[in-house]
Amino acid sequence: MQSITEIKSLRSQIKAWRQAGLSVALVPTMGNLHRGHYSLVEKAKTLADKVVVSIFVNPMQFGANEDLDNYPRTLNEDKHGLAELGTDIVFTPSVNTIYPNGLGAQSFVDVPGISLGYCGGSRPGHFRGVATVVTKLFNLVQPDYACFGEKDFQQLQVIKTMAHDLSIPVEIIGVPTMREVSGLAMSSRNGYLSDEQKQTATVLFNTLKHCAEQLKNGKKDFVQLEDAAKQSLEQAGLKPDYFEIAQRDTLKTAKLKDTKFIILAAAYFGNVRLIDNIQVEI
Ligand code: PAJ
Repeated sequence: MQSITEIKSLRSQIKAWRQAGLSVALVPTMGNLHRGHYSLVEKAKTLADKVVVSIFVNPMQFGANEDLDNYPRTLNEDKHGLAELGTDIVFTPSVNTIYPNGLGAQSFVDVPGISLGYCGGSRPGHFRGVATVVTKLFNLVQPDYACFGEKDFQQLQVIKTMAHDLSIPVEIIGVPTMREVSGLAMSSRNGYLSDEQKQTATVLFNTLKHCAEQLKNGKKDFVQLEDAAKQSLEQAGLKPDYFEIAQRDTLKTAKLKDTKFIILAAAYFGNVRLIDNIQVEI
């Protein structure tokens, strides 16, 4: 595995692959890799001849009061895991390499509509930061495929919309959420929780599953379902940020005639923000 930090070396290796007629898949990450991330790398390997994984804790997508400084950084372990999986390049640029003029003087990419509400509502500017850094990574790597987790479902839809709207020649692949045996969605932020707290946090997925079952059983009072779910989260000691039943593809508020739903949830457990979702088709 090649470990690359500079744009020039990255571009020259990609150019050589292109000249040899090889296809490329990209997996963008912020590091502190777990089995969820590794499942994206495994998927990428089935799609393309060469796999590039980027590790970059992107300051542009963190709000002023968020965990940018404390975000877990485990570069050596990450590199070890990626090498074992047969990753071709790990790209670990510095903040200065990605944003040489600082964040203030930076052009940006906004994806209106789909970025509104849910995580976009609670984290103003978050999806601008995500869309901007992912555009830059797409331009640096020019991949045929890029893999994103369904765990961050709104992020996946933002990236799909952006690639389509801006005619970026990349196929966006969504990969199912990898979970602990308990059902808890794997996340770098789970590292902030004790074992006991992780057990309590399973209420998030259990509540999503319960809501999904009720939808499947024909319950259609969305607001009532959402309110009951928020109550369950509160009873377990979580502070719900949002719990909403939406149309799967547009993320607009669900209507009675819809058949493809996504239930999106975010909740605080102490200072730790957890997100998860479940898809329902009826
Ligand atoms: P990060 O949180 O490191 O996640 C990197 C990728 O791994 C994302 O596509 C995310 O959806 C996916 N992922 C995380 N947990 C997962 C799980 N349990 N199962 C499956 N996939 C999972 O998301 C980001 O970084 C950043 O916003 C990024 C896209 C890299 C832009 O900075």
